[in-house]
Formats: sequence, structure tokens, C-alpha cells
Amino acid sequence: MPRHIRTATSEDAAAVGRIYAPYVRDTAVSFEVTPPDPDEMGRRISATLGLHPYLVLEEDGEVQGYAYAGPFAARAAYRWSVEVTVYVAEARRGCGVGGALYVELLALLTRQGFHAAFAGITLPNAASVGLHERFGFVHAATFSRVGYKLGAWRDVGWWRRDLAPALPDPAEPLAFPDLVRPRGGVITPPLERRLSRRR
Ligand SMILES: CC(C)(COP(=O)(O)OP(=O)(O)OC[C@H]1O[C@@H](n2cnc3c(N)ncnc32)[C@H](O)[C@@H]1OP(=O)(O)O)[C@@H](O)C(=O)NCCC(=O)NCCS
Repeated sequence: MPRHIRTATSEDAAAVGRIYAPYVRDTAVSFEVTPPDPDEMGRRISATLGLHPYLVLEEDGEVQGYAYAGPFAARAAYRWSVEVTVYVAEARRGCGVGGALYVELLALLTRQGFHAAFAGITLPNAASVGLHERFGFVHAATFSRVGYKLGAWRDVGWWRRDLAPALPDPAEPLAFPDLVRPRGGVITPPLERRLSRRR
């Protein structure tokens, strides 16, 4: 079965949680320390989809990676800026999954009218830095020793990518449900794409 990217639903919570859990438990990629249970993952997916995209990539009917956006910060003037996140199942890293998800995620965010995307990366993380720079993200800042996890202080680098020019009077970003509503809330082509498997 070819690759397939679609909007997540709360029914993906368990699969998404299984991908995320080892990064929470065994690495400092995420600053969470306890893997969220499926109920919590489901709540996060639903909350995200109120305004931003939450995408999963399936291969052979199994979710192998996910990517989503959220507000960069809560205050109103930040509302054109998003933070993006992507996770790929450990066994499927380096096979084009993260890149395929970012093609779709960044295209959707651009269509929604967001101005800039930001990614916070616990350093070092060559794969994530490589992915973001491949998609035009540029290093903006690094906060030294901003977190402590698994016995060490951790630096977080921030990368940014413009999605649209800095207009003097930007239109309000479109909520994700409003982008897909004409099709009854279901992501349809070209947002739901069949993708050829790279490796
Ligand atoms: C970072 C991550 C999402 C990348 O996804 P992926 O599916 O492994 O990446 P892809 O195979 O799609 O590669 C896309 C691009 O990323 C870069 N990249 C991927 N792996 C890399 C590595 N090990 N070193 C350097 N660059 C790498 C390359 O530029 C690559 O493009 P190319 O194949 O044309 O050279 C994935 O490795 C992952 O889930 N890592 C753990 C979680 C994580 O760090 N998430 C990001 C949190 S900020």
C-alpha cells in the first residue's frame, strides 16, 4: 500500500502515543518526562485541530509519523506565528516520512495565512536540524541550559521559516477547519495524497 497523509483524528491517539513515548522516555528531544496516555493524546489532537493542522502519515495502514502546528505563544499578537513539531517512528527514520509530512504541513500553514513557523530543537539533533534546514528554516537563537532532563542540562535552538511576506496589514489566519470545511471536514486531494515510498 502506498504512503498516505491525512488529518489525524482522536482515533490515532494510541498510534501517535506509541511513536512519541520512546522519545519522551529515552531522549531529551521532548521535554516531557512521562509519556501521555491515549486519552491525553486524543485531547491534544482535538485541541490542535481547532485552529491548526495535525497530520499523520500511514504506510501499509500503520501510522509511521505525525506532524502538527500550534501557537508559537499565547498572546494575541503572536497569532500569525506557529510552532511546528514532527515525530517519526524510530524504525522508519531516514526514509522520507518526516520530509513528506513537512511538505504538507507547511503548505497547509501557508494556505491558512500564517506568517512564520518556528521549531524548538533540543541540541544536538542532527536529523531535526537537517530536516528543518532542508525546508528553509534558519537558525534564530539558542537558549543554553534551558531544561534539565536525563541527568544533563539541555540547550534548545530555535529555527524559523517565513511562510508569507511581512505585510503591513495581515489578514487574520484561517482556522484549519475552515480550510477543509467545504469538503465536510475530510481532507481530500490534494491534501490527502498518495505518496510513493522513497526507500
Ligand atoms: C527529525 C525527524 C522528524 C526527521 O524525519 P525523517 O523521516 O527521519 O527525515 P527524512 O528521511 O524525511 O529526511 C528529510 C530531510 O531531513 C534531513 N535529515 C534526515 N535525517 C537526517 C540525519 N540523520 N542527519 C542529517 N539530516 C537528516 C535531510 O535533509 C533529509 O533530506 P534528504 O534525505 O534529501 O537529505 C526524525 O528523524 C525524527 O522523528 N527524529 C526524532 C524526533 C525529533 O527529533 N523530532 C523533531 C523534534 S524538533
